[in-house]
Amino acid sequence: MANRSVAMGLALAFVAMTALCCAPGAAELPRLDHPARSDGSLKLLVVGDWGRKGTHNQSRVADQMGRVGEKLDIDFVISTGDNFYKNGLKGVRDQAFEESFVDIYTAQSLQKPWYSVLGNHDYRGNALAQLSPVLRKIDDRFICMRSFIVNAELVDFFFVDTTPFQLEYWTHPGKHRYDWRGVAPRGNYLANLLKDLDVAMKKSTARWKIVVGHHTMRSVSEHRDTEELLELLLPVLKDNGVDFYINGHDHCLEHISSRDSPLQYFTSGGGSKAWRGVFHPNKDKLRFFYDGQGFMSLQLNQDQAHFIFYDVFGNILYRWSSRHPQSSTYLDEE
Ligand SMILES: *[C@@H]1O[C@H](CO)[C@@H](O)[C@H](O)[C@H]1NC(C)=O
Repeated sequence: MANRSVAMGLALAFVAMTALCCAPGAAELPRLDHPARSDGSLKLLVVGDWGRKGTHNQSRVADQMGRVGEKLDIDFVISTGDNFYKNGLKGVRDQAFEESFVDIYTAQSLQKPWYSVLGNHDYRGNALAQLSPVLRKIDDRFICMRSFIVNAELVDFFFVDTTPFQLEYWTHPGKHRYDWRGVAPRGNYLANLLKDLDVAMKKSTARWKIVVGHHTMRSVSEHRDTEELLELLLPVLKDNGVDFYINGHDHCLEHISSRDSPLQYFTSGGGSKAWRGVFHPNKDKLRFFYDGQGFMSLQLNQDQAHFIFYDVFGNILYRWSSRHPQSSTYLDEE
């Protein structure tokens, strides 16, 4: 704890300094601590693009998450956003919170924190409602913030609010309305966010660094790559040795490897509606793509990260293990 308060003091001093000279509005990202297991490892599930009152196989995915969650004895769940369709929550009393979350993910194993980001559909409703502590009084699992850090000892998760990056939502919103309260103007928001992330990543001493956002960086499905993230966010990730970028937005499951860095991209956006039937390859290395519903598990220890994708029946579709770059042990072969 002493270390943390020193680090916090330094961070505050840094923020104070930069605030004086060059970065008005920069601030330390909110930070939550989630202890690792007693053996130092961590197990979790990742799901995205889910809130449809159980329809489009949302309930089937939820059931299988419950089973896999129990088998693995997970520590928490990550939601990659688009939590409530089609237009987020109307307010903190919107019944969709119960109908699409509380009453759907009922398994005992899923009664853990759900660390969540906002997706573009969430911004089309009352974005502030999802961030409100009032929801936590209804169901204390739902922990949704714009950008924040979950420190789980062996890993720091950097949750990034990616919707404001996409320029089109600002300039050509079409028939949609985005709730930019607390975000506009875009330029300042992004500049501060990128700076805050860079500072937090440089300070991080965790063995693994994982970034979670809603939008794709690299994707072969409907939405393809998000150019603004490749241009603005990717350099920060590469500069700071981030191991994995995990997102939703495209309603599918995919794993893509960067060809010019060790970064791995994982899309887990199969929480409900899927089957777009599109395929747009990009230049990076596509390792796995499934156009249907499902979810992902991640198991981490000091030496390796193990990813598994599951379908609506709980069948394992794909597994992939990565050894930590500084690891001295061999990868467990299964
Ligand atoms: C539900 O999942 C099954 C199995 O993958 C699939 O055949 C079916 O089309 C899905 N239903 C919907 C509405 O997506």
